[in-house]
Formats: sequence, structure tokens, C-alpha cells
Amino acid sequence: SRVVKLAVIPGDGIGPEVVAEAEKVLDAATAGSAVQFDKTRFSLGAARYLETGDTLTDDDLAAIGGHDAILLGAVGGVPGDPRLKDANIERGLLLKLRFELDHYVNLRPSKLYPGVPGPLAEPGDIDFVVVREGTEGPYVGNGGAIRKGTPQEVANETSVNTAFGVERVVRYAFDLAERRRQKVTLVHKTNVLVHAGGIWQRLVTEVAQEHPGVAVDYLHVDAATIFLVTNPGRFDVIVTDNLFGDILTDLAGAVTGGIGLAASGNINPDGAFPSMFEPVHGSAPDIAGQQKADPTAAILSTALLLDHLGLTDEAQRVTRAVEDDIAARGDSIRTTSQIGDAIAALLQR
Ligand code: NAD
Ligand code: IPM
Ligand code: MN
Repeated sequence: SRVVKLAVIPGDGIGPEVVAEAEKVLDAATAGSAVQFDKTRFSLGAARYLETGDTLTDDDLAAIGGHDAILLGAVGGVPGDPRLKDANIERGLLLKLRFELDHYVNLRPSKLYPGVPGPLAEPGDIDFVVVREGTEGPYVGNGGAIRKGTPQEVANETSVNTAFGVERVVRYAFDLAERRRQKVTLVHKTNVLVHAGGIWQRLVTEVAQEHPGVAVDYLHVDAATIFLVTNPGRFDVIVTDNLFGDILTDLAGAVTGGIGLAASGNINPDGAFPSMFEPVHGSAPDIAGQQKADPTAAILSTALLLDHLGLTDEAQRVTRAVEDDIAARGDSIRTTSQIGDAIAALLQR
């Protein structure tokens, strides 16, 4: 039987709560099957930092990199906690994993499932995927400040966009569109960010020539937020940079029934490094420890993980169990673990 080495990083806040349910569902989906998950748990995040002063050691990184895939809950403390100022959990842990493991595709599907009460009066059919670049843009940490703390302070944060980095993610987006509804929308801000926008526009135009069947569309990011609310059905594959993709996908989560349903994969398509699957949401300190978090995003992220590993049947069974659970939810209020139990039970059918 096949053994998959899975690194599990529960993290902070609601991270451990939602990961427990994702593991429950993973176990149910693979019970009695030919695949076995051999899990290693990594205690990383704000809590670990406050205990030991470590964010992500070289040993942690090497150990995690030796796995076949990674499941992550969420990391980060209460925004603004002064004790975490030097830790920079987001950069030093989450982004470090994405950069070091070359997760250049941050895949964030958005689908309005039947029965989900969304905020839009007439949502129409919503089913699109944001292909967010994961290793470049303004996230690279290429910045600095001078004359800090003075009225003369100058603070810079450079957006890095390489032809290599943009082309590979654009290619991924077009290949994905070929398997979907043959439409790619580039989202950027080419009217203002002329250099960064220019390279994205050029490479989308070039790669599009190899995909004559794929319709190409462009929106400035501000207008894209309008259409995500007024006509989300127009989108199939959205390709965009790291920062725009971050913002658009919280909005996409909100219009498809809430951030508690939004799943993601940080993919290294070449397979040189393990890919990492995590909900789009964060550690939600405001509801942590109360069993109020919706674990569905983490569970759907597990379906993406199964699919990435080629375990298509298991992935589809998990997705279907989630769809059935969602359709029956109505306005019932359940705890985190009750939702996980219900979805795991649906897998026993
Ligand atoms: P957040 O996503 O944690 O929370 C935003 C709002 O959504 C909160 O009201 C929260 O209660 C709600 N929410 C989030 N997940 C939910 C769920 N599963 N079910 C129900 N409600 C849910 O964003 P934030 O408050 O900006 O960030 C909190 C911390 O998380 C910060 O330290 C931030 O840096 C970190 N963060 C981490 C990740 C990650 O690990 N991938 C992602 C985003 C934010
Ligand atoms: C996300 C998060 C992260 C991001 C933060 C915590 C670094 O918001 O996964 O969407 O900006 O990518
Ligand atoms: Mn985000």
C-alpha cells in the first residue's frame, strides 16, 4: 500500500481546532483504502515562538521539506501583540515556507455551493479559481525604511516581478483554464503600476497565443472587486500577483458564503518540494478556543491535498460529503467538531 508522508502544522488560534477536523475527515476518507497517511506534527507559530523564541529553524524547514505534502491550519497571534513584534510569524514562518518550498502557485478556488446563504441577492453561478502568484510581488521583503520614526521617514516595499516567475504562473493559469471553461482574466493595475503591470500584460498576451481556445480578459484590480460582487459568474480563472490575489480571495470567500469555506493550496507544480494546503483564513483570535470556527475551509483544503497527490476518488468523496453537509446546514449552529463529525459520518456512507 502507498504511504504518504504528511507534515501537519496546526499553528495558532483556531488553527489546531480546524486541523483536528480536517484530520478526522482525512482519516475517514482513507480508512480501509490502499493509501496510508504517515503524519508528523510540527509545533510552529506564535505559541512556539513565545515559548522558545524560534519561528522556523533550518532543522524544521529541512524536516518539513522531506514530506510529501503539508497540511497547515493558520499561524499568527493577535494582530498588534507587542510580544510578537520581533517574531514576524507571517514572514518568518508562513511566507518562508511558501518561498523556500517554491510554492509559486497559490491556488484558491471559489464556488458557491447549493444551499449556501451568501450575501448576494442574485449571485448566479459562481465557480472560479484565483491563481495567485506565491513567490514574488510585494511579498518578497525587498524594502526598507530610512530616517525611521522621523517626519522625514521614507519607507519602501518593492514589488519584484521576474519574467521567469510571472511566465510560469501564467502558464499554469492557462493550462487550468483549458481544463475548465476556457477563460483567463488577468487582474492587475496596469494603468498605474506600469512596470509590474507591463510584464504581466506582455506574458499573458504571449502565453495566450499558445492557447487560441482560451478567451483572455483584463480588469484593473479595483474594477475586479466590483465584478466579484455584481457579476462573479463572469470569472473562470483569475491570474494575478501575490498581493492582489491575497485581497481578492478574502472577498471571493465572503461572496461564496464566508471565509470559513475558502480553501487553498500552495502548489509547487514541478514536485521538487512538498505542496502545502491551508484555509484562506487566519488564526481568528477573536473566536479561538470556543469551538466556533467553521472547519470546512480546512476540510476542503484537505480535498485539494488529496487531489494534488493524485488521490482523485478520495478527493471527490470529501468534496461531495462537504457539499451534502453544506446543503443540509440551513441556519443551524454547530460546534467546530460537530461539523467535522457530520462530514466524517457522510464519508461512511
Ligand atoms: P482571520 O482570517 O484570522 O479573521 C478574520 C475574521 O474572519 C475574524 O472575524 C474571524 O473570526 C473570522 N474567521 C476566520 N476564519 C474563520 C472560520 N474558520 N470560521 C468562522 N469565522 C472565521 O484574519 P485576521 O484577523 O486578519 O488575522 C488574524 C491572525 O491570523 C493574524 O496574525 C494574521 O496575520 C494571521 N493570518 C494567518 C493566515 C495563515 O496562517 N494562512 C492567514 C490570514 C491571517
Ligand atoms: C493568506 C494570509 C497571508 C498572506 C499572511 C498571513 C502572510 O493573509 O494566506 O492569505 O498574505 O498571504
Ligand atoms: Mn490573506
